[in-house]
Amino acid sequence: MTQDEMKKAAAWAALEYVSPNSIVGVGTGSTVNHFIDALGTIKHQLKGAVSSSDASSARLSELGIPLFDLNELEHIDVYVDGADEIDASMAMIKGGGAALTREKIVAAVAKQFICIVDNTKLVSTLGQFPLPVEVIPMAREYVARQLTLLGGEPRYREGVVTDNGNHIIDVHGLVITEPKELEQRINAIVGVVTNGLFAERAADILLMGTPQGVSRQQHV
Ligand code: A5P
Repeated sequence: MTQDEMKKAAAWAALEYVSPNSIVGVGTGSTVNHFIDALGTIKHQLKGAVSSSDASSARLSELGIPLFDLNELEHIDVYVDGADEIDASMAMIKGGGAALTREKIVAAVAKQFICIVDNTKLVSTLGQFPLPVEVIPMAREYVARQLTLLGGEPRYREGVVTDNGNHIIDVHGLVITEPKELEQRINAIVGVVTNGLFAERAADILLMGTPQGVSRQQHV
């Protein structure tokens, strides 16, 4: 089974968490693209979607799935998104696709976060995947110096501008043993919009594609 087939299996398994006549939160990335295809098959049963990126919005619109502004909604039942890394406590690194801030906002509003991944994303300690940090452009070098003091090796993701008009710094070389603490510390640096650690708001359900099928885990 290829990595993409495992992503697809996890993505389609998430359909069972989507209730009829609901508005579903939709993340970003290659795994979520499979989920959007799956949503297309039940689009007439859906009220619509809230999207975490311009890229996902475009795909949802192509399928004729109505898009809602998050400000119009008090809550969303379910948010479905991928991850770049996830650990046993269901804390994640996200933002490989630079959509971390909107992803974190939609996840905050959702009652349930369903994480869909292939089995290469499960790690014992977060940090091998460089941690993305979205920064206000004029603060980029200041934030990079502060991230160095935290023990990381920041690298500017050249040529990338987020959907919010900001820059991304990827922090290499971190061994993240206390994800909640690091999430808070990085978010406290002036000029940081948010960072790609999703530990305060971890996943509730993990659907992981493996060669043996899709494994399910619930956050305890
Ligand atoms: C997007 O910004 C990320 O948070 C994605 O969820 C993450 O990069 C997973 O992407 P893939 O599904 O393409 O692996």
